[in-house]
Amino acid sequence: MSFDLLRSVAEARDFCAARRDAGSRLGFVPTMGALHEGHLALVRAAAAACDEVVVSVFVNPLQFNDPRDLERYPRDLEGDAELVRAAGARMLFTGTLEGFFPDELDEAGALLPQHRVDPGSCALGLEGEHRPGHFEGVATIVDRLFEVVQPEQAFFGAKDYQQCLVVRDLAARRGGPHIQVCPTVREGDGLARSSRNALLTEGDRARAVCLSKGLFAARAAFASGERSPRVLAGLVAAAVESGGLDLEYAAIRDPQRWTAGDPEGPLEQAVALVAARAGAVRLIDNLDLGAGGGA
Ligand code: PAJ
Repeated sequence: MSFDLLRSVAEARDFCAARRDAGSRLGFVPTMGALHEGHLALVRAAAAACDEVVVSVFVNPLQFNDPRDLERYPRDLEGDAELVRAAGARMLFTGTLEGFFPDELDEAGALLPQHRVDPGSCALGLEGEHRPGHFEGVATIVDRLFEVVQPEQAFFGAKDYQQCLVVRDLAARRGGPHIQVCPTVREGDGLARSSRNALLTEGDRARAVCLSKGLFAARAAFASGERSPRVLAGLVAAAVESGGLDLEYAAIRDPQRWTAGDPEGPLEQAVALVAARAGAVRLIDNLDLGAGGGA
């Protein structure tokens, strides 16, 4: 199968329109690059479900609340193109903020406030609270990416649990695409794959396993009948703190109904979510505690 690497939003828009006109059902995988097995699993799932797969790589400045995080974010476009081609993608595109929002930036190059997309109520609490403006930035770029590609289905990773809720909500409001959520891909020791893992020192990489250890401990407790959100969250927090990372939050939510604050227990089903810092690197993870294991 042929493969195209496109470096402008306008070219990507025309390419996708032509493929749709030719009758192709497009699967779409939006990313910020520095691709790893987690991303490639989404590309493979899209290739299995759709006629052709489009991948975007754009380190979206709108969703970075910390400018140093944006600056440090790893980038390797040529390497990414090679990986997605091998995983079955038809096209990878990148672009600039101006390319995505040609008529919507002010003179300083910032997006005019009236063009920001409301991320909805699932953006409240946890990531939304710890990263102000983050989900508005995600909703704004994902809405524009959907408009450029107009895919039938779009693929997201359960690793970013709250992002999946925000994106599902967005897709429901705009009438598509269909959102597919794929399981979190982990390293052998349990650490969730992340582009930011490449930034960890050797010592922090070893310590980072405490996030998934805490989540698995909570899952084991849930399987043994523990239903108190406070106790379950405490298990995750204790593992992270004893692992030597700086805990931002360890929390339990009801997967049936997102709440900004902690839900009242006991819960029939539960998802555990955690965020912590290893040095300058911020890591997040989550696990469905219900039967079957989920993400
Ligand atoms: P990024 O962090 O590059 O992730 C792109 C997609 O890959 C997201 O759907 C994310 O959940 C998924 N992903 C990352 N690590 C994963 C893992 N270990 N297992 C499974 N899936 C994984 O998320 C973003 O980019 C951005 O916010 C974006 C949606 C592209 C908007 O800018």
